Amino acid sequence: MRVTVVDDEKFAIAAADALMARLPAGAPRLGVATGGTPMRLYAELGRRSRGGEIDLSDATLVALDEYVGLDVDDRHSYAAYVRVRIADPLGVPPANILVPQGSREDPEAAAAEFEAVVAGLGVDVQIAGIGSNGHLAFNEPGSPLDSMTRVVGLSEQTRRDNARFFGGRIEAVPRYAITQGLGTICRARSVLLLAAGPAKADALAAALSGPVAADVPASVLQRHPDVTVIADPAAWCKMAS
Ligand code: PGA
Repeated sequence: MRVTVVDDEKFAIAAADALMARLPAGAPRLGVATGGTPMRLYAELGRRSRGGEIDLSDATLVALDEYVGLDVDDRHSYAAYVRVRIADPLGVPPANILVPQGSREDPEAAAAEFEAVVAGLGVDVQIAGIGSNGHLAFNEPGSPLDSMTRVVGLSEQTRRDNARFFGGRIEAVPRYAITQGLGTICRARSVLLLAAGPAKADALAAALSGPVAADVPASVLQRHPDVTVIADPAAWCKMAS
């Protein structure tokens, strides 16, 4: 496991450098996390793309998860997030965006289909965040370490954490999501884990230095052979002690 602890102003640069170092040339398959932490990475990639330093327009973007019940055009959907914050700035065409179809009448079927698509494609580098409760994608505590893409219920804490994206209203946050499983995520060739802020300190320490166990889903990354962690000092502080 490679670890870089870096101050806020260098975080995006370190994350973008780490990503580009692991991403193969040509038409890479890039697993993208949504949420707050990776936004600055995507902004930095957009900046490099506009400046001609990088060209990811042939990439395929594979999302980790999607809320059940939100249409692709809903601005709160992760489909919209990937389109607006990642694909558009990088010039990735809509046909190269893969997000679980949360608005399908049968989300279980949508999850199974997504699992098959991701397995067939193979992700080169998976960008990931960590929840304050140790979740990885929407694999909440208790998720089997070998789980596949499926429909899951969101914990109260996750819905509270994500209410900031829904005007601060927890009741507006969907209760279910389709998420890649921990087993699905671990098939990626390489994982780039981003963690920032004091709210992540306990979860990060438990995930990286505690036992590998379902109650800390992100701990499954200890079993992955190629993980790069970019953390700020506040997220890393419990590791150092
Ligand atoms: P955040 O979410 O980047 O919005 O903090 C991370 C996560 O919940 O996985």
